[in-house]
Amino acid sequence: MNNRVLVTGGAGYIGSHTTVELINAGYEVIVVDNLSNSDRSSLEGIRKITGVEPKFIEADCCDKEAMRKVFQEHEFNSVIHFAAYKAVGESVAEPAKYYRNNILSFVTILELMTEFGRKNVLFSSSATVYGDADVLPVTEHTPRKPATSPYGNTKQMAEDILRDMVAANQNLAGIALRYFNPIGAHPSALIGELPRGVPNNLVPYITQTAAGIRECLSIFGDDYDTPDGSCLRDYIDVVDLARAHVVAVERMVSGGSKQRYEIFNIGTGRPVSVFELVRGFEQANDLKLNYKVAPRRAGDVTAVWADTTLANQELGWRAERELLDTLRAAWEWEKHVRQ
Ligand code: NAD
Ligand code: WQD
Repeated sequence: MNNRVLVTGGAGYIGSHTTVELINAGYEVIVVDNLSNSDRSSLEGIRKITGVEPKFIEADCCDKEAMRKVFQEHEFNSVIHFAAYKAVGESVAEPAKYYRNNILSFVTILELMTEFGRKNVLFSSSATVYGDADVLPVTEHTPRKPATSPYGNTKQMAEDILRDMVAANQNLAGIALRYFNPIGAHPSALIGELPRGVPNNLVPYITQTAAGIRECLSIFGDDYDTPDGSCLRDYIDVVDLARAHVVAVERMVSGGSKQRYEIFNIGTGRPVSVFELVRGFEQANDLKLNYKVAPRRAGDVTAVWADTTLANQELGWRAERELLDTLRAAWEWEKHVRQ
């Protein structure tokens, strides 16, 4: 039971990479996904990489009866909850869609964990909870700023829900991992990010521009108060991020957590500018990217990067992949998708 993990949203970008790392670490994985932002090809990719086909259940985490059946029929002690919508702009236009899916899915999972006496839950939080932080890098004690989007608000609310559920239920332990900017793909190029429509995020926009699907990358602002005028972010390789989930599950399973609810920043600890990232992509892949400087994008913070001391010390985890390798993997994945 302790070596079995339920992964909600496991067909998605971060969930599929985490499933691979869990399988490689000897876990048996049950994936639940409603395929609202993914497809079965990621499950095929997982099988090709690991040689193991994870058990897949197509279900909506908000559907309590369907999820109760999953809990009734499968023994597992740990749940990693990735299932959520994640488009910041869409969340501003359609807040109810985000509150319904991101909050209801999580509350449903937590209620069922309580009902069935399941112990450990890992939640996908985000650096978005810090907003425009006053002091950088941010530590887990940096005060959260009021969320600037309904999406960000769902992450803050879900963290608080987890804290309260753990406080009320002695049997439950929770970890929230605050991801910074996940990028890249598995080095095999068999799984990666599959954005639908025009990408919002920088790296998929870069790879689609390099592939000729987008004409030109717009760099949103070169007049920020940063060394080169563009925004600074902490870009974390998705495989490094996936490994952080494995060590966090191990910590809970082995009872190594210091408190029953813990939060960890998961980033590299290194700020990288948009211009640096673009140059890195060109260098890693020996190509030239068509880009121009455009006005600032509404809602962007100037800079945010992680202090990862806590994850380094407590989880024994640190980001290992070099940025250029990550950017090479992102391009290999884009080429694989377009084949
Ligand atoms: P993704 O969209 O690729 O994966 C999410 C998966 O959840 C998809 O496969 C989708 O089909 C599924 N899903 C959504 N709602 C569901 C529901 N109600 N029931 C069942 N399945 C459902 O996104 P991702 O980038 O892999 O993100 C995973 C998690 O990490 C999300 O919670 C996201 O908010 C969080 N996160 C992502 C980033 C990022 O930049 N990618 C950064 C910080 C946090
Ligand atoms: C990175 C940098 C842009 C696109 C978002 C969410 C956050 C988290 C991660 C989920 C910024 C610049 C971008 C482009 C550009 N997701 N950029 N041209 O905004 O840091 O974070 O994803 O939790 O909540 O807000 O990521 O990749 O969109 O942008 O110049 O076409 O790239 O201005 O400085 P962001 P991003």
